[in-house]
Amino acid sequence: PPSCARPLDPPPPHPNNPAYSERAAAAALDTMAWHYFRSGSGDERTLRENRAAFERHRLLPRVLVDVERRSLATTVLGRPVGWPVLVAPMALHGLACSDCEAATARAAAAMDTVLCVSTLSNLSLEQVRAAAPAAPQWFQLYVQRDRGVTAELAARAAAAGYEALVVTVDAPLLGRREGAVRHGLRLPPHLGLGNFSPDVGAAMLAHRNAGDSSLAAHFAVTSDPSVTWRDLGWLRGLSPLPLVLKGVLRPDDARRAADEGAAAVVVSNHGGRQLAGAVASLDALPAVVAAAGNRLEVLMDGGVRRGTDVLIALALGARAVLLGRPVLWGLAVGGETGAARVLELLRDEVDLALALAGCTSPAEVRTDLLA
Ligand code: GLV
Repeated sequence: PPSCARPLDPPPPHPNNPAYSERAAAAALDTMAWHYFRSGSGDERTLRENRAAFERHRLLPRVLVDVERRSLATTVLGRPVGWPVLVAPMALHGLACSDCEAATARAAAAMDTVLCVSTLSNLSLEQVRAAAPAAPQWFQLYVQRDRGVTAELAARAAAAGYEALVVTVDAPLLGRREGAVRHGLRLPPHLGLGNFSPDVGAAMLAHRNAGDSSLAAHFAVTSDPSVTWRDLGWLRGLSPLPLVLKGVLRPDDARRAADEGAAAVVVSNHGGRQLAGAVASLDALPAVVAAAGNRLEVLMDGGVRRGTDVLIALALGARAVLLGRPVLWGLAVGGETGAARVLELLRDEVDLALALAGCTSPAEVRTDLLA
């Protein structure tokens, strides 16, 4: 037995603990990629608050309920999904895995959920669709300064079989993530930006300068910071796909999203990567849910790590949550299998949490489950 006089090293996390794949990813990824994925903006207060907000909640389980038969199935935008967790849009999966977004697409399909594919994917949106053609996928859209390019991206997404357009609305410019700046984020020569012509990827390489990450510099040149609510009609007209607005934190913005015909909002602060000091997504959720009424579906992301987190978000009114960084950690450690494993562990946890809370389906998770 270890001596009581000697302080013990903290035990390494159990492989089922989300911290395990995060540590393994930190070791597997090159420094630049690790800092790009991990970083939040500014002092990373919002990044930390996303987690802290979950830790402030306590569950109030119901006992003596028959939970022998359970189902995690739900619907999102009217579409059946296996469980209330989707994969969040994230850029540049090629920094984590040589199969890029194709690996993530297959993992999400194997785990019966939706992958949101980023405008800034390394593979083209058509290639990602082809990797898992039977699975539902949504396309995340950054409105480009070139409205023709934006229209073309939306039309391509619809033609390829994407089921929703997720328009990111919290990023007129990219937040300053000091980790990405310090470690000189750039696109390695073997990777491109799959949705754009090769010269756009090459231009991104050239953008690196001392004060910024190459992605932020690229973004400032290509993305349109002048987009407003008045553009939503135009965006809706670009394709028959339902619009999901990602990055809404205020109830008045949620009401406006409903007025302008959005189908859903994602309560999100972009994983703590945009406005430094923005409210935790979970803390913003209840007011957005109240404002949305039954006019909008409300999803959330930011800080979800455990099955019980999913329960808490559902109890506060989210229809489903989006999981981000942990999927990248799985991808970095074990490619498609690693990403699927992270999702599988979380799904098992959601199932266990549901049962222990006295619920048999996501629909039974209501506010009274919170102390
Ligand atoms: C890209 O969308 C990023 O947040 O880095």
